Amino acid sequence: MCGIVGYIGKRNAYPILIKGLHRLEYRGYDSAGVALINEQGQLNIYKAKGKVAELEAFAAEKDTTGQIGIAHTRWATHGEPNTVNAHPHYSESERLAIIHNGIIENYAVLKAGLMKEGYTFKSDTDTEVLVQLIEYTQVNRHVDLKTAVQLALQQVVGAYAIAILDKDHPDTLIAARKGSPLVVGIGIDEYFLASDATPIVEYTDKVIYIEDEEVVSLQVGKEVDITTIGNVQKTPEIKRLELSLSQLEKGGYPHFMLKEIFEQPRTLTDSMRGRVNVRQDNIALSGFIDNKERFLNAKRIIITACGTSWHAGLIAMYAIEEFAQIPVEVEYSSEFRYRKPVINKDDIVIAISQSGETADTLAAIQLAKEKGAFIFSICNVVGASIPRLSDSGCYTHVGPEIGVASTKAFTAQVTALTMLALCIGKEKGTIDNDQYLRIVRELGQIPDKIQRVLGQNKHIADVSKTFTYAQNFIYLGRGYNFPVALEGALKLKEISYIHAEGYPAAEMKHGPIALISQEMPVVVVAPHCGTYEKVVSNIQEIKARKGRVIAIVTAGDKLVSKIADFTIEVPETEECLTPLLTVIPLQLIAYHIAVIKGCDVDQPRNLAKSVTVE
Ligand code: AGP
Repeated sequence: MCGIVGYIGKRNAYPILIKGLHRLEYRGYDSAGVALINEQGQLNIYKAKGKVAELEAFAAEKDTTGQIGIAHTRWATHGEPNTVNAHPHYSESERLAIIHNGIIENYAVLKAGLMKEGYTFKSDTDTEVLVQLIEYTQVNRHVDLKTAVQLALQQVVGAYAIAILDKDHPDTLIAARKGSPLVVGIGIDEYFLASDATPIVEYTDKVIYIEDEEVVSLQVGKEVDITTIGNVQKTPEIKRLELSLSQLEKGGYPHFMLKEIFEQPRTLTDSMRGRVNVRQDNIALSGFIDNKERFLNAKRIIITACGTSWHAGLIAMYAIEEFAQIPVEVEYSSEFRYRKPVINKDDIVIAISQSGETADTLAAIQLAKEKGAFIFSICNVVGASIPRLSDSGCYTHVGPEIGVASTKAFTAQVTALTMLALCIGKEKGTIDNDQYLRIVRELGQIPDKIQRVLGQNKHIADVSKTFTYAQNFIYLGRGYNFPVALEGALKLKEISYIHAEGYPAAEMKHGPIALISQEMPVVVVAPHCGTYEKVVSNIQEIKARKGRVIAIVTAGDKLVSKIADFTIEVPETEECLTPLLTVIPLQLIAYHIAVIKGCDVDQPRNLAKSVTVE
């Protein structure tokens, strides 16, 4: 979490940094700050609690000149979100300023050592310890800033993407990373750096992704200098960005989340382009084709992910086991990485991550890789750490997802994983050919069918209005739609702050049924497939206890519409594809309730889009 941005060049840095912070605000938004070295050689730091707009207001009357600067938007880890703990942080002499995304795990030991040397600390952060350590190293070892950074980072345990200014050297911007992302943008006579490419895209399409334990030194008129923290010289690999400015704007929608929900017909078309060939009744996934033998010989697939991506993984478990007949285990990355899992060389580990930077998922695949498993990733952000660490994978290609609540990434993850399950099943001969053909053709229809669900937005908004009073919600589903129930509950929790639980519908009678009352809305995902009749019985059980039911049903459903309080229809489709349709009303319900409650839909409290700390 936290977003960092830096600039060195011939322009005034401040507007570039502020614009960059707005783009990175999805990474954290409890405080923000900027450091600039002006023409007189003064190092000015301005910080404010709250969002970037607060910082702008605070700095409005201040000296914001300077052609070199760094800026930060924070998601607090050490120390409460206030101005003192906001970044940048000065060193003891106020000669250096640092911004940091990550956690310095051994900060307490380092801090104690520095305090013995007479260093004083103003904040509760681990970051201030790092800048003090760098200054201490520079002064006591009589080395330049780059060397001091290298030496200091050798003592650090933890994760970091940092950028540092030295008021005595206003011609140099130093940065480094380990575990947290860092991208350098190369302009003409100017350099940019940021946590991702979004602050850079309007200035240049030439970027370098900094690798773990690398230190980069940027000076106008000089080539990018990259060394390891052990001072081994590296050759920068310049890549071309595939990102456009229009993808980063709201396009007339009041919120990014709503834009992203409505983009799904197009994003799924993009995800399937060149992969699903409806005319030839075929699916071609290059990540699968290039590694066919690995998949065909896999004894087990382990899926690892967090949050919404974990829900996509659960759906994939149903599809892979049904079509490819390979046993699948779905793991929370945070548990998997620490529980000494048994991983074999013929296992395939699939990591799912929108951002490609989630710390726990990254650590989980590092572990699996060490144990010899083959790593396949489903990611959205091209060039992020997870796809770079993987042996192979599949990008979802939905464009930047900016709303903190994941929507279009989820449907694309489910689509990619379904395609993978179908490819393996076809090649292994474990899927019936007619069924394969039906699903391939149906995949081609999904964007239109999502469009039809979106056409009911007004009805869904009206239904949502009825339930804004509720303090608690239950979401129920079975089979492929059990993970959809979990996802619907997560969406509601994160953006409307209403407590919600997702359950497999049949589990209700093992406990949650005790909660049912008139005050407790129950959202039942009940498309006409598989265990439909059993879900209908569950709805009867809820109604018998005066519960209020909102049911997501297949168009034309007669049974449920007679007993549920409200129904929302989705078009008929193949069972394995129903989540792609049934999740849309749940995304919209969460959105409308959050808007009516006046919540900050795109940047809900306490959350960040990219969870780069564990
Ligand atoms: C979903 O709405 C979330 N905000 C969150 O659960 C997210 O899916 C999770 O943090 C995983 O992120 P990733 O896909 O970028 O790895």
